[in-house]
Amino acid sequence: MSNEVVLSVKNLSVVFHTPDGDVAAVSNVSFDLHSGETLGIVGESGSGKSVTASSIMRLNNSITATTTGSILISGVDILTADESEVRRIRGSEVAMIFQDPLSALNPYYTVGKQIAEAYLVHHPQVSKTDARAVTLEMLKKVGIPNPEKRIDEFPHQFSGGMRQRIVIAIALINNPKVLIADEPTTALDVTVQAQILDLMKDLQAEFNMAIVLITHDLGVIAEAAKEVLVMYGGRVVEQSTVDALFSEPTHPYAWGLLGAVNSLSSSGRGALATIAGSPPSLIALPRGCSFNPRCTFASEICRSEVPVLRTVGTQGSVAACHLPDNEILTIGREVASR
Ligand SMILES: Nc1ncnc2c1ncn2[C@@H]1O[C@H](COP(=O)(O)OP(=O)(O)OP(=O)(O)O)[C@@H](O)[C@H]1O
Ligand code: SF4
Ligand SMILES: [Mg+2]
Repeated sequence: MSNEVVLSVKNLSVVFHTPDGDVAAVSNVSFDLHSGETLGIVGESGSGKSVTASSIMRLNNSITATTTGSILISGVDILTADESEVRRIRGSEVAMIFQDPLSALNPYYTVGKQIAEAYLVHHPQVSKTDARAVTLEMLKKVGIPNPEKRIDEFPHQFSGGMRQRIVIAIALINNPKVLIADEPTTALDVTVQAQILDLMKDLQAEFNMAIVLITHDLGVIAEAAKEVLVMYGGRVVEQSTVDALFSEPTHPYAWGLLGAVNSLSSSGRGALATIAGSPPSLIALPRGCSFNPRCTFASEICRSEVPVLRTVGTQGSVAACHLPDNEILTIGREVASR
């Protein structure tokens, strides 16, 4: 199967204009995503994960937010494309599972109608009977038992895990090249979470789909992603393969996350535990490295100069930190081996 770049984000920045001042929600984020691959985005609450995701769908309000950079989806820049082109791309080229799966479903319509409608938007020439047949096929693919009966049921008649399968069915009904999944398993218990991640993997293989998987759970990243962006205060502070993140992490913030994971490993869960201090205000980011107020390794330069991303170590990782390479590698490997 081809392994083309299906999503290319370059220097994405999003500023929200609020009565309290400008909020730099996302600053200079860049990445490429190939078909069939999963990129994880991890970071604390407020680090800019969902805003990055909604920019890819061009959902930021253009009056209250300024979005700059470029987001190429199959060669088209979604940030400058005209509205009809964006409507075509949304759903058919790139689809999104939103952070709150319950609000994604309309309680007044059967799940079958909601899936079929998502299909008909992009296939207006298809009859309702044929759309129903496509819907039934998709319900089988996402593992809904007894789909012939359940197609005519309402969202409240499904469990949380089954509802999430319906949300996935809506997202995939038009066979998008890119799926953006914003915390797709957070509301689910651990067993169901594993089933949903398995389902996403199976469907990814079947459709050769690229996935952007947003989570605050490093366990989910380890399970499901190949590459990972670690975000802090709206910026990418480390970008690496998942293997590299767990064997040779290259940013002090990532060390904090991994320390938290290691201390939780006996319970088998990798949720981000606390790192001392709180996330930065995006209206007034700290000068220099925005992690400096919480970083044990901060020195003078960290309080004045923003570190740029550079390659560190032997595995192609890039990190934004002023520490010398040898120090990063020694400490990173030590953290990983704990
Ligand atoms: N419409 C908006 N207007 C103003 N500020 C916003 C808006 N949407 C998001 N923000 C701010 O942008 C920042 C990033 O938000 P975002 O939702 O991307 O965080 P997140 O990483 O997804 O966090 P979480 O893990 O809680 O979902 C936050 O400080 C948030 O308050
Ligand atoms: S640049 Fe300085 S403050 Fe920022 S993570 Fe590196 S050592 Fe810590
Ligand atoms: Mg979010």
